[in-house]
Amino acid sequence: MTTAETDDGQAQLRRIALAGELDALTDLPRQPDDHRRRAYANHPHSGHNALHAADRGSGLKSCSWDDVGVVDERASLELLGSDALERSAVVANCAMNRERQLSGVNSYTRELGFSPLDVLTAIPVGAGRAESVAAAGWLDLCCGTGRALIQAAEELRLAGLSERTVLVGVDLVDAFDPVPAPPLNLELICASVANWAPTRTFNLITCLHGLHYVGDKLAVLTRAAGWLTPTGRLVADLDLSSIRLPDGRPAGQRLTAQLRAAGFSYDSRRRRISCTGRRDARLPYSYLGADDRAGANYTGQPAVHSYYADNR
Ligand SMILES: C[S@@+](CC[C@H](N)C(=O)[O-])C[C@H]1O[C@@H](n2cnc3c(N)ncnc32)[C@H](O)[C@@H]1O
Repeated sequence: MTTAETDDGQAQLRRIALAGELDALTDLPRQPDDHRRRAYANHPHSGHNALHAADRGSGLKSCSWDDVGVVDERASLELLGSDALERSAVVANCAMNRERQLSGVNSYTRELGFSPLDVLTAIPVGAGRAESVAAAGWLDLCCGTGRALIQAAEELRLAGLSERTVLVGVDLVDAFDPVPAPPLNLELICASVANWAPTRTFNLITCLHGLHYVGDKLAVLTRAAGWLTPTGRLVADLDLSSIRLPDGRPAGQRLTAQLRAAGFSYDSRRRRISCTGRRDARLPYSYLGADDRAGANYTGQPAVHSYYADNR
């Protein structure tokens, strides 16, 4: 094992200690000088700039070499900002499933329990009808290859509904399946959901297994809720245990209650969040940064923990 590996391992264990789990896992001797140094260095192996929550006005405490004698272990938690997170191998890798189809075994229809096409075709389109829109829209955030949207566009073309529908996919990685003759109702956009925003509202917004890799997950959810039509539906996979407080604990039931109060429903069995109807959702949390070393989540893939200060 190289020094770097050993160093990394110790850092990892200290990070686990933030969540209060260290004592059960190891009797690693504490080395205050080590982690004090680490707290002030950019992470030596990731190439990322470590963001110390104290720099961002959070409840996480940092300390200086000249600080009081007590060193806060939590200072060694390194939170990543958006740019560093989006360059992380956990987020930009080829191991994740980006290829869900519209229907079939590995599909949106299977994951969602309904067909996005059924939603789109049920929307009254055209002037003079209650709730009518010029075109029914499906926005897929973190769409991967965009395969499901491309297949939907083809089915809508065959049904003569291209002009009555709008399909938009957004993904950080430009790994979209090729579309030889892109239909006018389909747009695949390479952008981060952290700062992209649409110019229209949507009847359906999906984000399947995308939030696991996003830093400010709560902002994506609240922003997306504002992009719905009055009866539109937002459905996203969300592992609530990935939303952490500065001391490393999951935000837990208080967050669940606040999400409900803001108009979201959460299915804890399926780890699925949803909301119906456009809303100006606000949650009393301030985003601090992301941890790309959280390890595998329930999907088996390494995922990202998102840290928030609770503004109560
Ligand atoms: C597990 S894949 C799921 C893809 C697709 N939803 C599916 O179910 O097939 C997660 C996707 O999220 C994308 N992603 C991660 N962070 C993102 C971000 N900040 N903005 C946009 N897409 C992001 C990844 O590039 C990846 O394509």
